[in-house]
Amino acid sequence: MYKHILLPTDGSTLSGKAVKQCIRLAKSIGAKITAINVMPEFQMVMADEGFVSPGVPQIKKRFEEGAAKRSQTILAEVKTDATAAGVDCDCVSVSSGVPYEAIIKQAKKTRCDLIMMASHGRKGLSSILLGSETAKVLTHSTVPVLVVR
Ligand SMILES: Nc1ncnc2c1ncn2[C@@H]1O[C@H](COP(=O)(O)OP(=O)(O)OP(=O)(O)O)[C@@H](O)[C@H]1O
Ligand SMILES: [Mg+2]
Repeated sequence: MYKHILLPTDGSTLSGKAVKQCIRLAKSIGAKITAINVMPEFQMVMADEGFVSPGVPQIKKRFEEGAAKRSQTILAEVKTDATAAGVDCDCVSVSSGVPYEAIIKQAKKTRCDLIMMASHGRKGLSSILLGSETAKVLTHSTVPVLVVR
């Protein structure tokens, strides 16, 4: 039934649990995976209106390079594990200040028929029921969502 699973991951240990289960599920039902990591966007707080420090472009570049490197490392690990299990896996890095929107957009774009993600991520189990991105994906997605606890 499910042929293409979207696997959002933030590289956290809890997210890693969903990655492992997703690869096992995909293998058992013959589905492919698209793994996605949403990179944070560079944000700047202006001290004075209209004032932009000459150093900002370099800081932005360094920030974006660091984010891209972290994202590639996270996704490379998923790809390696999926390939070792014989599961077809594509990887996508996108920049967005609103991860859940980027996740839902990607599910539509690549026509995924299931989104599989952990209940919590980097911040851990401190948020009572669900992490905020998972809660918002569950609220707004029209694609079925499988939450790994
Ligand atoms: N930037 C991201 N890129 C891809 N997937 C993400 C991203 N952030 C979160 N996720 C997905 O959502 C899951 C839950 O993370 P979420 O951010 O909702 O909870 P949290 O980090 O524990 O708490 P918080 O809501 O405070 O961020 C992660 O395991 C991961 O699957
Ligand atoms: Mg989080």
